[in-house]
Amino acid sequence: MIAEAASLLKEGGLVAFPTETVYGLGADSFNKSAVRRIYQVKGRPPDNPLIIHISSIEQIASVSNRAPEIVERLAEAFWPGPLTIVIPKADAVPEEVTAGLPKVAVRMPAHKVALALINDLGSPIAAPSANVSGRPSPTSPTHVIRDLYGKIEGILDAGETLYGVESTIIDLTTDPPTLLRPGALPVENVEKVLGKRVVIPPFARGLGEAERALAPGTRYRHYAPQATLIVVESDDYSDLEKIAEKVIEVAAKHIAKGVRVGILCTEETIDLYSPLRGRVSLKCLGSRRDPFTIARNLFRALREVDDEGLQLVIAEGMEERGLGLTIMNRLRKASGFNIVKV
Ligand code: TXA
Ligand code: MG
Repeated sequence: MIAEAASLLKEGGLVAFPTETVYGLGADSFNKSAVRRIYQVKGRPPDNPLIIHISSIEQIASVSNRAPEIVERLAEAFWPGPLTIVIPKADAVPEEVTAGLPKVAVRMPAHKVALALINDLGSPIAAPSANVSGRPSPTSPTHVIRDLYGKIEGILDAGETLYGVESTIIDLTTDPPTLLRPGALPVENVEKVLGKRVVIPPFARGLGEAERALAPGTRYRHYAPQATLIVVESDDYSDLEKIAEKVIEVAAKHIAKGVRVGILCTEETIDLYSPLRGRVSLKCLGSRRDPFTIARNLFRALREVDDEGLQLVIAEGMEERGLGLTIMNRLRKASGFNIVKV
């Protein structure tokens, strides 16, 4: 199967493949027309560049000839794994991959199917998440089929992905380094290995957008269900009753108007919504003490919301620590910054 997928890539085809984060839509990084087709089938804005996936450290040399020394330490600590680094690009990397930027994003995925595919191709794979642009990233082959069936040459099915959110992206071309996107690897872990703080701009928290040259991906609505999403945030997440009260208030107002409402809640809060039982779709993402599970369930839940025909979803916020920062980034962006504060 993997050999077949690799030969499809060699012929310039597009193949969706599993990684530990989400499914990717792969093309041979050095095949310009294949890379161009990725943008077409996803409906991706042409100025939003792609991550290059490698299977060995040596392959870095084929995409960058000015990788900073720190890359070695980061690679040793986190690769294969959900860390993407942004470094100066080599001339050989097609403009199509980096959308004309002088820097390239690289990561080594921790999934044996992904690594075997890159090995079989014998060349790095350029791949965005395998969803239609703007939709939640695919955490299972079903999601890929839903978005891209008939438009690509193949899908390697390895069941659900482990993390369910994308990699953490750190730009090493700035000093200090900049977090471009929080992801499956907590930024605090990266800071420990770097031995210094990483700049966390507002856009990395899901608040606003950045200049294209710094973080092109922040300028588009992402991860969004068709339903309207509202995020209820607080400065004090020790008072969950106050948050639930606000969620109930917003939900009740819309239910009264005949709107079909869903709530993304947690094990700690689900019972607080019993007054709404039978009138809302309650989706428990996991325990607040286990943000790994919340992150893992998030994109699937956002897709289920649409499958159930819900028109409004209300999500509870959480502290922006560890994976909490990643979850808040995704929720805020998915909501189009539709935030209510208590
Ligand atoms: O976990 C992941 O990272 C998944 C799996 C498939 O590896 N990939 C993924 O790719 O999430 P995508 O295309 O959905 O998101 C990549 C992000 C975009 O926001 C893009 O703007 C940013 O990476 N990016 C890519 N190349 C860049 C570059 N040269 N400079 C700055 N940002 C870049
Ligand atoms: Mg994506």
